[in-house]
Amino acid sequence: MKTTSSHGFATASLCTPFVLLVPLGLFAVLLVLPSLGSSHVRSDGLGVFCRGAGADGYYSVASGADEEVAAETPPEFSLLVGVLTMPKRRERRDIVRMAYALQPPATGTRVDVRFVFCRMDDPVDAALVALEARQHGDVVVLNCTENMNDGKTYEYLSSVPRLFTLDSYDYVMKTDDDTYLRVAALAEELRGKPRDDVYLGHGFAVGDDPMPFMHGMGYVVSWDVAEWVSTNQEILRHNDTHGPEDLLVGKWLNIGGRGKNRYNLKPRMYDLNWDMDNFRPDTIAVHMLKDNRRWAAAFRYFNVTAGIE
Ligand SMILES: *[C@@H]1O[C@H](CO)[C@@H](O)[C@H](O)[C@H]1NC(C)=O
Ligand SMILES: *[C@@H]1O[C@H](CO)[C@@H](O)[C@H](O)[C@H]1NC(C)=O
Ligand SMILES: *[C@@H]1O[C@H](CO)[C@@H](O)[C@H](O)[C@H]1NC(C)=O
Repeated sequence: MKTTSSHGFATASLCTPFVLLVPLGLFAVLLVLPSLGSSHVRSDGLGVFCRGAGADGYYSVASGADEEVAAETPPEFSLLVGVLTMPKRRERRDIVRMAYALQPPATGTRVDVRFVFCRMDDPVDAALVALEARQHGDVVVLNCTENMNDGKTYEYLSSVPRLFTLDSYDYVMKTDDDTYLRVAALAEELRGKPRDDVYLGHGFAVGDDPMPFMHGMGYVVSWDVAEWVSTNQEILRHNDTHGPEDLLVGKWLNIGGRGKNRYNLKPRMYDLNWDMDNFRPDTIAVHMLKDNRRWAAAFRYFNVTAGIE
């Protein structure tokens, strides 16, 4: 697949606005976004790097074979996919990057994939991730401490509405770097769904409730739900950001009466088993790809490597 830039409005102006929105300069967010129209790489010195489209290296799984037409036709809906990862997992990220870049486009949609980090204290990590960000333009660094593994999901969901105020999405997804997500299959599921009050994923049953929360392999909330999370003081007041994060997301929504348009994509989102023999052709997401052998099995099964000598 040809890598394409994200379509849609305001993409051309993505370079600088976000840094200007950084409140009081305290919110040390390094946000790397692609820019259309210029082919040079530059840094404005404020922690935002921009790079031109067209160079290889960054992908947005985007719509349409014909960019001209696609640029004029508003996408049916847009989805931000945040892959939560850690600085040290560079090799894994490169596999995941390829996994997204080599997928067929999700027609009629705008899907942007970003790797999500916390702020890095280690200067080596910070330098290498900055380089990676510059090369690929697909990195978001949140105001949290890396390695704490506690509160990162909250930080992600609550930061996204502030970070993308000018160019919001219809849906926000949280996923991990051991999940193979098939974007077109997910987009098909979302196409006919409401655009608000949505909470969709692999439901985790508890008692009689089939999906009080979604499995962390990957779930989608609509933009209004992310906005609600970002403005809800109760979550912070109850210190409800530490602990089993994906369960907590369900807890906030259940308490707040949000995410009522709730969809369970089981069994099309699933964990790969030990023997790696439970792949299914209608997969939306397969999780537990924790080593290269398992990623290779996924690429083989989904014919990503078919025909390559
Ligand atoms: C960033 O995180 C620190 C530590 O939690 C906090 O004190 C600060 O207010 C945060 N900044 C913003 C803009 O949220
Ligand atoms: C919040 O929870 C964390 C983890 O359980 C704990 O370390 C921290 O002290 C708590 N903070 C408050 C203000 O209760
Ligand atoms: C992969 O290709 C084979 C042979 O063409 C086909 O039978 C199979 O359904 C494909 N698998 C998937 C997941 O599309």
